[in-house]
Amino acid sequence: MFSKQLLDAMNEQMKNEFLSAYLYLAMAGYFEAEDLPGIANWMRVQALEELTHGEKFFHFICDANGRTDLRAIDAPQNDYDSPLDCFVYSLKHENFVTDSINKLMDLARQDNNHAAQIFLQWFVTEQVEEEASFGLIVKKLQRIGDDGNGLLRLDEELALRTFVPPAAGA
Ligand code: FEO
Repeated sequence: MFSKQLLDAMNEQMKNEFLSAYLYLAMAGYFEAEDLPGIANWMRVQALEELTHGEKFFHFICDANGRTDLRAIDAPQNDYDSPLDCFVYSLKHENFVTDSINKLMDLARQDNNHAAQIFLQWFVTEQVEEEASFGLIVKKLQRIGDDGNGLLRLDEELALRTFVPPAAGA
C-alpha cells in the first residue's frame, strides 16, 4: 500500500517517463528536418523505450492497489541550434530523471515500502545506462565539431539502433 506522498510521486514519475517519450519524439522530428534520419531513428527508439518506462509505472501502481493519475504534459522543445545542442539538452533531461528516480527511492525507503524499492531498483540501474549512452553521443558530437563527414558517419551508426520490446512481465 502506498502512502499518499509516495503515490503522488509515483504518478509524477509516470508522467515524467511519458514526457520523456514526447520530448524524444520531438527531437526525432528535429533530426528528420535536418536530414539526419539515422539520428532521428535513434531518438524514435528512445521515445518507444520511454513509453515502456511509463507503462511499467502504470502497471506497478495498479498492481500495488494505487490509483493511477495521468497528468498533463507540457509541449516539448521542438527546435535546437545544432545536433550537439539537442543532445546536451537530452543529457540534462536524463540528469533530471535520475534525480527524480533517486528522490522516489528515498521516499520508498522512508516509507519502508519494500516492493516499491525493488521496483525502483531497475530504474536506478537503467538511469546509469541512459546517462552513459546520451553522454557518449554528446562526446562524439563534440569531437565531430564542424566535420560534416563525421556527422554522416554518426548518422549511419545511430541508424542501426532497433527497439526491443521488454519481455512479458519484465
Ligand atoms: Fe526513462 Fe530516459 O528515462
